[in-house]
Amino acid sequence: MRIDIISVVPALLESPFAHSIMKRAQQRGLLEVVVHNLRDHTPYKHGQVDDYQFGGGAGMVMMPEPLAVLIEKLQAERTYDEVIFMTPDGATFEQQTANRMSLMQNVMIICGHYKGIDERIRQRYVSLELSIGDFVLSGGELAAAVVVDAVGRLIPGVLNDETSALSDSFQDGYLAPPVYTRPAEWRGMSVPEALLCGDPKKIEEWRHQASLQRTEQRRPDLLADN
Ligand code: ADE
Repeated sequence: MRIDIISVVPALLESPFAHSIMKRAQQRGLLEVVVHNLRDHTPYKHGQVDDYQFGGGAGMVMMPEPLAVLIEKLQAERTYDEVIFMTPDGATFEQQTANRMSLMQNVMIICGHYKGIDERIRQRYVSLELSIGDFVLSGGELAAAVVVDAVGRLIPGVLNDETSALSDSFQDGYLAPPVYTRPAEWRGMSVPEALLCGDPKKIEEWRHQASLQRTEQRRPDLLADN
């Protein structure tokens, strides 16, 4: 899977994909993340990419032409399954979207800055608008990093133990159960007996019940959705 990210602050995206699972996914050739600095593609002087908004008001707006130049250059090179714009007024990004995206070949992600991007870019090129929650970030980069991480780990072959993504919270509509490691007794606190008994059926049953209980307590809305 190839993900092209368009940004005016590409340095923000240097670290998130350079470690751990995202690094491994790229080393294995399963994921390619290419970050583009929009300023390298603007036809305007001094790397200008933003301007005052029509109608007045605080904050600059990203101009349409630099974005169009870069988007069209990329689209001429390959076909994109989605052209995504990260924005707080987009659809909430959820596990289901991550699952669907993990099977795509080419995805483009546009990160907004300042007051946002000229609306005509959204109308002409964007196929999907995503928000990572009801709060406003300074730009779309951190949100894009969240999406790439959530999608990248789901690409077949990225996780060593294929089932470990299946047992994530949300994957079956429930929160994941609690987990424990050694020692079995720690500062007067013990690991639930069922996890130590060695009987796979009992362990599975305990996990299912714990998962259900945790979901009831913390996210009853998830149960209502089922
Ligand atoms: N850009 C700014 N805030 C955002 C959010 N909450 N989600 C996605 N992109 C954003």
